[in-house]
Amino acid sequence: MSVYQIVFSPTGGTKKAADIFVKSFCPQSTLIDLTDRSQDYSMYSFHAEDICIIAVPSYGGRVPDCAVSRLRQMQGNSARAILIVVYGNRAYDDTFAELQDTLANCGFICAAAVAAIAEHSIMRQYAASRPDAQDEKELASFAQIIREHIASDAPSTPLNLPGNRPYREYNGVPIKPQASQSCTQCGLCAKECPVGAIDTDSPSKTDTHRCISCMRCIAVCPQKARSVSSILLAASSMKLKKACSGYKHNELFLPQQ
Ligand SMILES: Cc1cc2nc3c(=O)[nH]c(=O)nc-3n(C[C@H](O)[C@H](O)[C@H](O)COP(=O)(O)O)c2cc1C
Repeated sequence: MSVYQIVFSPTGGTKKAADIFVKSFCPQSTLIDLTDRSQDYSMYSFHAEDICIIAVPSYGGRVPDCAVSRLRQMQGNSARAILIVVYGNRAYDDTFAELQDTLANCGFICAAAVAAIAEHSIMRQYAASRPDAQDEKELASFAQIIREHIASDAPSTPLNLPGNRPYREYNGVPIKPQASQSCTQCGLCAKECPVGAIDTDSPSKTDTHRCISCMRCIAVCPQKARSVSSILLAASSMKLKKACSGYKHNELFLPQQ
């Protein structure tokens, strides 16, 4: 049996939550980075004994499109999947439903799931500094419970996860990072962009149609030369203030035995 950690995490929040879980779940795993647009994901063909811990952020209550299309190329071959959906303290809406359908369609058996909170990667005042010490304890305990559940091999019903079908509509957000004068054209943002929206020869140019507003370019820029419109950011923050406030808890989903 091998354990794989398959993660789409442009700014590191999803990876942080997945790492806490994986550390408690097993001593060794292989990382597959779904943000790497140069990879041929069709080379991943798993075995029925494998366990794949698949972690994605919720974007507009959905799985980011490019994560769906990369996962779709993999062959689950009845490997068990543990789904981790990470969200920025608003809601995950239909993210689990879409992730579960995507994985089932490529041959994974969805065994268990976890919802985790991480700092909102656009409006960073929401869920700031999460996952924190309390989250760490919770996620580590979820990992132990899931491990015992899988080891018990007890017959169980299919995993029932929250979400609607058809999934809610999501057409992206209008908040697109742009480069300022301090851009030195080092090209790191273009290299790291999960969807290739930044011109490699002229990194201050962004293809706003291709951009998924994941904020990775802002996170990786060594000059802090990339940012989003402060007006749009303030307007979105105000609009989502009520939905994003209050303490939200991590959640564990297991099939009924
Ligand atoms: C384009 C975009 C859309 C998002 N939509 C939601 C959402 O619908 N609900 C929510 O709670 N958080 C939302 N978030 C916040 C992310 O789910 C959260 O910050 C996550 O940790 C980001 O993952 P990363 O740090 O691995 O990049 C959104 C973030 C981005 C960039």
